[in-house]
Amino acid sequence: MTQVPALLNRRVVLGVSGGIAAYKAADLASKLVQAGARVDVVMTRSATEFVRPLTFEALTKRPVHSAAIEGWSDAAFGHITLADEADILVIAPATANTIARLAQGAADDMLTVTHLSATPRGVPLLVAPAMEHNMYHHPATQANLRTLQERGAWVVGPEPGRLASGAVGDGRLAVVERILAAIEQALGATGPLAGRRFVVTAGATREALDPIRLLTNRSTGKMGYSVAKAAIRVGAGVTLITAPTEIEPVYCATTVSVESALSMRDAVAEHAIGADVLIMAAAVADYRPTTVAREKIKKTDDSLTIELTPNPDILGTIETPGTLRIGFAAETTDHEANAVGKLKRKNLDLIVMNDARAAMGSDVNALTLYYRDGRVETIAEGPKTDLGDTLIARVADMLRIRGG
Ligand code: C5P
Repeated sequence: MTQVPALLNRRVVLGVSGGIAAYKAADLASKLVQAGARVDVVMTRSATEFVRPLTFEALTKRPVHSAAIEGWSDAAFGHITLADEADILVIAPATANTIARLAQGAADDMLTVTHLSATPRGVPLLVAPAMEHNMYHHPATQANLRTLQERGAWVVGPEPGRLASGAVGDGRLAVVERILAAIEQALGATGPLAGRRFVVTAGATREALDPIRLLTNRSTGKMGYSVAKAAIRVGAGVTLITAPTEIEPVYCATTVSVESALSMRDAVAEHAIGADVLIMAAAVADYRPTTVAREKIKKTDDSLTIELTPNPDILGTIETPGTLRIGFAAETTDHEANAVGKLKRKNLDLIVMNDARAAMGSDVNALTLYYRDGRVETIAEGPKTDLGDTLIARVADMLRIRGG
């Protein structure tokens, strides 16, 4: 796993309560440690029936708090030290009983006293429920979750699927990647883009020829997704308008799935008005087949000619008063002249230029930024994940300079 800067050196208190999903908390602890976080695990008594504390001790290289109450020593004051040092309190899995105890403000074990001690200090609480379908949907559990949310808690999942009982329903612990993304989001919620609304497009549009065939391009969506994730990590609310991709979703974005340039244009028109920032990282097809055959086009011995119609230029035609407008230019020749031409033609505040051959499908990229005011900045080759963070830092600067 790549190093996630958002988790580097962050202090995570991971509360594990007693459900069968407790075994998945071991994977979560491991991934948090791999991402550079310091993880202190607090287990309820029933959690220790499912997974031994030693498992977490081995993964986190730190003592696990599994006694109901801990004594005070010179080095640490039990729950007070944990709460004092925490950047976030994550409860995964959170059983119906533990959710009820949190909502009630119970203080009958290390997990609940840590909760009571931590949240008044401003430590964000993130709860990942996991339980049987009916328990989750019980009005009491729903009311308890609402209570926690009203107090500012983040709730991630549960997800529908196969439950430990064998039944299918709601109650699976959210996948670990989703919980990690939610932790990053919660940690960054007060960041420089807090309260800002971003619309990001990504991926290669698909233009149908017939019910089976389509025209598309080699863009993978990695750059757009990394920009979206980076914005979320520093507090932005992101709507991601995405053409189909093969890459891991951006879990904490509002995702709008589209296929063609026309459907992307409609989605951008619906969501971008009033946004603080529009970032068009999608590789939009310039043309689409003039007609889409209703049935599969049959092979003939003759050559086949496909007539194409230009697609609308989404950025070039959509008006977004007050929105910071950022485009991408993937070029193979005359890089600078093409990029600057697009900056002007599409009325952009910034165009991010990269070499199309080097960038498409690759995990690394190098960027040149051309700003509306004529400034030019080069960003040396690096992983697209890091470039997303760099680009978002520039966007935060632009918003700050512009004010409002
Ligand atoms: O003109 P070109 O396709 O190179 O411009 C690239 C920029 O314009 C990208 O930000 C892309 O998402 C956007 N674009 C668009 N609508 C199109 C084609 C490109 O918004 N039809």
